[in-house]
Amino acid sequence: MVQFSFLRFLVLCYSLLPLLAEDEKKFPWKCPTTFQCGKFGELQFPFTNTSNLGCGLPIMHCGDGNQFKTVHSPKTIYRLESIDGINSVSVTDHRLKKMLKYRNCTAFTYDLKAALPPNSSMLSFQIEMKNNITLLRCKHALANSTKYIYHISCNDSEIYYPSQNFETGKDNMVENECSTLELPISSSPPVDNSTDIYTFLHAEFRMLISVSDNCLKCQENGTQCDVHNFHCTSSKEGADPRRSKLAVDIILKTGIIYMF
Ligand SMILES: *[C@@H]1O[C@H](CO)[C@@H](O)[C@H](O)[C@H]1NC(C)=O
Ligand SMILES: *[C@@H]1O[C@H](CO)[C@@H](O)[C@H](O)[C@H]1NC(C)=O
Ligand SMILES: *[C@@H]1O[C@H](CO)[C@@H](O)[C@H](O)[C@H]1NC(C)=O
Ligand SMILES: *[C@@H]1O[C@H](CO)[C@@H](O)[C@H](O)[C@H]1NC(C)=O
Ligand SMILES: *[C@@H]1O[C@H](CO)[C@@H](O)[C@H](O)[C@H]1NC(C)=O
Ligand SMILES: *[C@@H]1O[C@H](CO)[C@@H](O)[C@H](O)[C@H]1NC(C)=O
Ligand SMILES: *[C@@H]1O[C@H](CO)[C@@H](O)[C@H](O)[C@H]1NC(C)=O
Ligand SMILES: *[C@@H]1O[C@H](CO)[C@@H](O)[C@H](O)[C@H]1NC(C)=O
Repeated sequence: MVQFSFLRFLVLCYSLLPLLAEDEKKFPWKCPTTFQCGKFGELQFPFTNTSNLGCGLPIMHCGDGNQFKTVHSPKTIYRLESIDGINSVSVTDHRLKKMLKYRNCTAFTYDLKAALPPNSSMLSFQIEMKNNITLLRCKHALANSTKYIYHISCNDSEIYYPSQNFETGKDNMVENECSTLELPISSSPPVDNSTDIYTFLHAEFRMLISVSDNCLKCQENGTQCDVHNFHCTSSKEGADPRRSKLAVDIILKTGIIYMF
């Protein structure tokens, strides 16, 4: 079994080699300090454009005139609404927006946090919603459903929006396999039973981008951290020790996954 896994691991290493060569082309040694991005003007780290992947969070369509600027994650696409500061942007989650528009109740089970771009050694992501409501999602229906402003059954889940001051007991939560989910709303509550929850909820929120300590250290030295944050970029060209380290790292990580 071990031998078989190891063979697969070796085969994988070989199949990764061309990919690594591609990566080297995509991730240049030097990251541009600034770039132009349509109506957002001149941007800098932690953002980057699609020509310089690995230099930050890539914004798509920076060069295409009037097209919406977007940020992609494995689970959704975000439309960039505004840049609110160096480490904060307002975005609309395209998938959630579509579900709300088509009144698809899956919207009420949509985990905004799980759709964020994955944290890396360079950047990490968080959500800030000035106005939000907390929905309860349970496997089983709760008693006293009149105490909830909103109740809907959706794909094997019972979704509730509790009326204010109504506490669902902890035992009740565990027993019915409930979890909570925060979603953004366009204005603050109160909500009553005449509110159309599909239009009351919306898909825009603030995405906070934290730069890792290692990357910040680079910036203090007037350099910039780039792909996978192994080293700060330097102004002088030269042999790049990161490349072999990056290759080893990818192969090791993938190898480990394959071995278990
Ligand atoms: C990205 O920015 C660099 C530096 O400003 C520029 O040379 C390149 O053309 C830009 N690429 C796109 C796709 O906008
Ligand atoms: C609702 O959205 C989910 C997730 O995007 C999708 O899988 C499902 O087919 C949609 N349902 C309807 C009725 O459109
Ligand atoms: C990403 O990092 C932030 C801290 O910057 C943390 O709050 C969040 O839980 C992390 N996300 C994941 C999926 O680990
Ligand atoms: C949701 O709203 C509450 C109350 O206004 C706030 O404390 C909380 O931080 C908000 N959640 C997020 C993720 O911003
Ligand atoms: C439901 O409401 C009734 C009357 O208000 C109360 O006696 C009962 O304990 C409640 N049940 C639960 C599970 O909260
Ligand atoms: C519906 O529920 C099933 C089983 O719980 C799950 O596998 C599926 O992904 C759910 N579909 C959506 C669109 O949430
Ligand atoms: C909405 O709430 C009002 C007052 O709390 C109540 O009289 C009315 O019956 C409720 N309507 C529905 C559809 O639940
Ligand atoms: C920053 O510069 C100092 C002095 O040149 C050097 O010792 C240090 O290693 C540099 N830090 C990083 C993160 O490159």
